Amino acid sequence: MPSPRESLSEICRDAGHEYLLKHWGRLTPSEREELEKQIRTLDFELLRGLSPNALPESIPDDWVALSARAEPPDAVRLGQLYRGISAKDACEEGARALSDGKVAMILVAGGQGTRLGFDLPKGMYPIGPISGRTLFEMHVDSLKGAMRRFGVSIPLWIMTGPSTHAPTEAYFAEHENLGLRPDELFLFQQGTMPAIDATHGRILMESPGQLALSPDGHGGIVAALARCGALAMAKQRGVEQFFYAQVDNPMVTACDPTMVGYHRLAGSQMTTQVVRKRFAKERVGNVVSIDGKTQIIEYSDLPDAAAEQTNPDGSLKLWAGNIAVHVFDLEFLEATAASAHGLPFHRALKAVSFVDESGELQKPSKPNAIKFERFVFDLLPMAERTLVIEGDASQVFAPVKNADGAPTDTPSATKQAISSLHATWLADAGVIVKPGVQVEINPIWAWDPGEVRQKINAPANVVADTYFA
Ligand code: UD1
Repeated sequence: MPSPRESLSEICRDAGHEYLLKHWGRLTPSEREELEKQIRTLDFELLRGLSPNALPESIPDDWVALSARAEPPDAVRLGQLYRGISAKDACEEGARALSDGKVAMILVAGGQGTRLGFDLPKGMYPIGPISGRTLFEMHVDSLKGAMRRFGVSIPLWIMTGPSTHAPTEAYFAEHENLGLRPDELFLFQQGTMPAIDATHGRILMESPGQLALSPDGHGGIVAALARCGALAMAKQRGVEQFFYAQVDNPMVTACDPTMVGYHRLAGSQMTTQVVRKRFAKERVGNVVSIDGKTQIIEYSDLPDAAAEQTNPDGSLKLWAGNIAVHVFDLEFLEATAASAHGLPFHRALKAVSFVDESGELQKPSKPNAIKFERFVFDLLPMAERTLVIEGDASQVFAPVKNADGAPTDTPSATKQAISSLHATWLADAGVIVKPGVQVEINPIWAWDPGEVRQKINAPANVVADTYFA
């Protein structure tokens, strides 16, 4: 029987990656243990299919050809009936499903937030315009508002990444799960992918005992949900749909009943919310229909000529911007997680530091490596039935992406968007908010404009609320 070291050598040799053990002799026992763990979790067969030579077949990225065939998606447009379904019907159906405990929530928070220039997980960024509540608190409060409204406990699964997991865990522990019960909050970690050398397909090592690993993209969620047991647990609890959002957008209404209801009434397997793009090259994914399949083409992949096409009235032909709010059928996620191929990988050419064969750290100034990520929205063309729903950007979308000073998607812009939205809710309830005055409503107090109206008619409650300014 081979020793553990011999069997590890054999694995590397058979896969053609013996060089991964080149520095084994200089490693401490704990470094060896860590490297062994990393190597044993590699999927060499998958990597073979992704090697530079195999790339053209494995990654469908002929965006020019695809974009030429892109049409606007069939969508539920604001204020219009969709196949006989009204927004009211949808909201009532969604409310029933929520009350019956058929909906759970997923928040993805595994990204590194580099553009924001914030060292901690992005969910810990303070964004409440008056309260200073963090992005995590904004989402959890919205979820608690939904729980109160529908009289039900709604489980929340938060996906973290290798660099955000430990600090996110510590944050929730320190803040007593932000008031969620232990059976309502689950943190789980997404997977990783190694960076490979762009010329030879060799797996890069960031130190003699560490592979150069990075998060496998938010599309890693399908495998991660299955791996951590979330799919099985949700099924056992009677969950039928997952409502999915990104941590960077605090304008999301947790488990929006109208969206859930449209999804259910239309028999969709995956539903996505979009907003009308403000201009052709806005930095959002483009939700389009290609050969009858709903698909998303990232802003960076959509050629200018395709992005700039207009309708006779001058509006953009490819108008639907992805805001990354989705509803998934649990059964659809189960089937995808079980399928042999799973989601495709997107590649990004990056400059990645690595140790060479002599053990020297190399810091290339030009891109030398390919990193791989899966995108969750690539599930759309895999589904048989999808639905696209238009939302009003001023009500549903103000992501925090860039540091203040950047032209768009900054914390200041997000705070302003929250305050402006809540001012309209107050105005709707007869409260005059003077120009320039910041307001913020905590969804635990009032979850939507209707609840604000009810509260304003009960002055004792207004006085009691600290966020009402
Ligand atoms: C993303 C979408 C874009 C959409 C926009 C809306 C992609 C590729 N593009 O752009 O179509 O218009 O949001 O705001 O997603 N994340 C993980 N793990 C990862 C990578 C990301 O959990 O490995 C999470 C991040 O924490 C974040 C979200 O996914 O919550 C989005 O990631 P990000 O890289 O910021 O996407 P964008 O380029 O902003």
